[in-house]
Amino acid sequence: MKLAGKTALVTGAGSGIGQAIALLFAAEGAQIALVDRNEDGLAETQAQIAAAGGAAIIQRGDVGETGFASAAVAACAERFGGLDVLVTAAGYSCGGTVTTTAPEDWDAVFRANVGGTFLFARAAIPLMQARGGGAIVTFASQLALAGGRGNSAYIAAKGAILSLTRTMALDYAADGIRVNAIAPGAIDTPMLRRSFARHADPEPIREASRNRHAMKRFGRAEEVAQGALYLASAASSFSTGTTLVVDGGWLAA
Ligand SMILES: NC(=O)c1ccc[n+]([C@@H]2O[C@H](COP(=O)([O-])OP(=O)(O)OC[C@H]3O[C@@H](n4cnc5c(N)ncnc54)[C@H](O)[C@@H]3O)[C@@H](O)[C@H]2O)c1
Repeated sequence: MKLAGKTALVTGAGSGIGQAIALLFAAEGAQIALVDRNEDGLAETQAQIAAAGGAAIIQRGDVGETGFASAAVAACAERFGGLDVLVTAAGYSCGGTVTTTAPEDWDAVFRANVGGTFLFARAAIPLMQARGGGAIVTFASQLALAGGRGNSAYIAAKGAILSLTRTMALDYAADGIRVNAIAPGAIDTPMLRRSFARHADPEPIREASRNRHAMKRFGRAEEVAQGALYLASAASSFSTGTTLVVDGGWLAA
């Protein structure tokens, strides 16, 4: 097992990619703190981990709220004795160009995506330093590298996460903490389905997105989870400050 004896905290663990990561990490031997604002999703992930014989605790809250990250990380440390791996998968998009995005929506998207990454890393790093090392996996998007239309707040936030990932990698390399990002392509999760549903005629948009991948399909959350496992485990021991693209060939075009 690739994470035997390790403790991981996964934000966004109530749905989609974060849920798939939590299930895979638990199957690989990690004890998990599950973080999300969706209580039903958290309960479902926890039940699946328990059914497979794993251990997980739940921390429900908004990752962008100051104070929640410290409390969630402290609860994880109290229950499991420390923290080795942080995955910041919580995030969402609101859609819209610069002229159609309300400033409140811009702020909320940045608070959840960038703020959630900052606050959880800020709370987790001292515990990793105390352990002599750790791994942080952040979540960007292929759109932060390729660009994209009609999703300005989200794409800008994902670009900020890539920059934050690199600067954290530099700041904490001497502590044995590796920090890497994943940039998924379009992955078939509730978030992707919601983003298509924002369009008056979603089907042509959905088809164009699917066909934009060289592999002519959407990715699965489990495929992204394998990338997260690589970055969280000793298999990637010489990687830091980099971005793992899991995009079915989107960026190759
Ligand atoms: N699905 C894709 O196509 C895709 C592509 C590129 C990047 N991503 C990124 O991958 C990550 C996971 O996305 P997903 O597709 O699994 O989405 P999802 O909507 O299925 O799951 C995201 C989870 O994050 C939680 N969340 C969102 N904002 C939160 C907040 N402020 N506080 C606490 N919890 C919050 C939601 O409740 C949800 O359970 C996100 O960061 C997303 O931006 C997804």
